[in-house]
Amino acid sequence: MPHAKAPRAQWASRLGFILAAAGSAVGLGNIWKFPYIAGENGGGAFVLVYLVCIAMVGLPIMMAEFMIGRHTRKDAVGAFRQLEGARSFWQVAGWVSVAAAFIICSYYSVVAGWTLDYVFRAVMGSFAGVSPEEIEGMFGGLLANGPRQILWHFLFMAMCLGIVIGGVQKGIERWSKILMPVLLFLLFLLFMNGMFSPGAREGLAFMFEPDFSKLTGASVLEALGHSFFTLSLGMAAMITYGSYMAKNEDLFASSLRIALLDTGIALMAGLAIFPIVFAVGMAPAAGPGLIFKTIPVVFSQIPGGFILAILFFLLLAFAALTSNISLLESQVAFLIDEKGWGRKRATTFLAGLAFVVGLPSALSYNALGGWTPLGDLAFFDAADLIASNYLLPISGLLISVYVGWFWKGSEEKEELVAGGAGWVYPLWHFMIRYVAPLAVLVILLNKAGLFG
Ligand code: PHE
Repeated sequence: MPHAKAPRAQWASRLGFILAAAGSAVGLGNIWKFPYIAGENGGGAFVLVYLVCIAMVGLPIMMAEFMIGRHTRKDAVGAFRQLEGARSFWQVAGWVSVAAAFIICSYYSVVAGWTLDYVFRAVMGSFAGVSPEEIEGMFGGLLANGPRQILWHFLFMAMCLGIVIGGVQKGIERWSKILMPVLLFLLFLLFMNGMFSPGAREGLAFMFEPDFSKLTGASVLEALGHSFFTLSLGMAAMITYGSYMAKNEDLFASSLRIALLDTGIALMAGLAIFPIVFAVGMAPAAGPGLIFKTIPVVFSQIPGGFILAILFFLLLAFAALTSNISLLESQVAFLIDEKGWGRKRATTFLAGLAFVVGLPSALSYNALGGWTPLGDLAFFDAADLIASNYLLPISGLLISVYVGWFWKGSEEKEELVAGGAGWVYPLWHFMIRYVAPLAVLVILLNKAGLFG
């Protein structure tokens, strides 16, 4: 049935766009992963390398994704089809991005579900006086409990659905303008708590005092890979969000703000966490267990810990929510733009699909415990490996090579000039042509195990 095409959605305000894109960027990667990898890789020395990676690789690729989106006003696949024709090779970049969004969306929701479970436990007072052995049992118990994880996974996907179905302005933008300020406020409270904790000095030293002896080649690769993941690159999100961006907006200034917010929040998260970890004498380099095992014990031992634990896990849940909606939106935009679906149908279908595809992830450490579809990896770990280690860097590489070398005319330049940032063009162009593709290639080879 032919129907009048609605004009393409656009962000209502620049602030709304920046908060939505920062919402995508600020996720579990910032609050959970960044602090512990910084801790393990020499603190300040690592932070320094990480900042360089953000500036030289992350930021230029983020700008490239925004350019592609804004220029074409399309989803990630449609964007390359429009630029290079329906049968061009470059649409592979779009397909890989959307595939990454699809896979990550499903298992990220399961992890986000754990954060909801922890909010619930914090509210119920389950962390009161918890010992390291008890928390081990609690977290292990959650992983062993399929139905419980499925329930939270379902609730989380339902929230994503509820937001994305409202559309760009009335759903994503409106909720980003609520969730992001709340997130910043929560983080600020936790940060202040850290700064006034007896462990403040030790925490600051751990994060910022450069210990170059701990900075190895592997640390540099870790910083590189993380700078890419933390800005939500290679997963269609920034192309899609860029496609709703106003033409006269300064693409460089906005990208810079988003990257600064993302980095600032990661640093603040570290300063919220490490001082209190030190204050109670626990191990800072607990790796992935830092959030789900160390932190509850820490909160059970400090003043105000009951409230602080609730705030902390809410913070995590909000960060996960604004990230996951960007992945759902990237797939929804694909069905709307390429297949002519309505938003309601597309969102319901994709959220339902993500829920179903997430089920084996929720069951990976219980009912499906013995099932290892890839090598000796459970479904959850296999999904993460395929998406983070292969799909993201592959699409990042294709995007930077395309924009740096194959995008014809000077359309990418016009995207910068349109917002008054023509002056950064030479610098940006150098990065996107030479530095970014090389760096992403190195990430890819490293993740593929070529460097041992
Ligand atoms: N930038 C996100 C993070 O740091 C990565 C991400 C985005 C993950 C969207 C999932 C969904 O966590």
